[in-house]
Amino acid sequence: MGVILETVDGRLAMRSDADAPGSGVSIDLGSIDVRALGGHPLVRAVGKGAGSVVDATAGLGGDAWILAASGRTVVAIERHPAIHAILADALECARATPTLAHIAARITLVHADARGALAEEAPGVWSILVDPMFPPKAKSALAPRDIRLVKEAVGEDPDAAQLLAQALATSAPRIIVKRPHEAPPLGGEPHHVIESRLVRYDIYDRPELMPRP
Ligand SMILES: C[S@@+](CC[C@H](N)C(=O)[O-])C[C@H]1O[C@@H](n2cnc3c(N)ncnc32)[C@H](O)[C@@H]1O
Repeated sequence: MGVILETVDGRLAMRSDADAPGSGVSIDLGSIDVRALGGHPLVRAVGKGAGSVVDATAGLGGDAWILAASGRTVVAIERHPAIHAILADALECARATPTLAHIAARITLVHADARGALAEEAPGVWSILVDPMFPPKAKSALAPRDIRLVKEAVGEDPDAAQLLAQALATSAPRIIVKRPHEAPPLGGEPHHVIESRLVRYDIYDRPELMPRP
């Protein structure tokens, strides 16, 4: 099984090739709740100093959207062509929607493998977010359809540790890795951890790289 792209109601959508034509899922960035973001664990994880963030694993764009809605400029990198295409469509749609345009304007989407692109995209950024596919659980509730489709398209991101190593090789003062609660850290022991109800944010800080006030 694989995923295919189709147009549904004028929007680019993705579906499993086993699903009925016309049942594809598109991304609705406007449906993401961006009220009261100050206490959001992701926003706390990127830190107060972060004016700019590279989201090295953009996926369906939810994290990039939250960061942009909190005022950060975001470079969002996605390597899977179909996922990149539906996210590009969603951002274009948001740019054309007056209530969303100011958030979309803060996101630059890049189609690339972040392992190679970080050196070019990350100079001067404060933080890099790494959110690879979660390892499979022995037992888990059925995920929402859009998440299942990403899983079907991407599989497991077996090179996630390599991506983290590339992020740590940049001059970004803070690297954040989003992990499931039960998974071990992707790199060494993080310096801080922020726990939320569903996930954990492992934070790797390099104070020597933080800009002096
Ligand atoms: C768990 S999803 C990310 C979800 C995302 N944070 C969101 O809010 O929707 C992981 C995504 O990262 C992408 N990815 C994984 N490794 C990557 C890499 N080295 N470069 C670019 N994209 C990558 C995968 O293709 C997949 O779409």
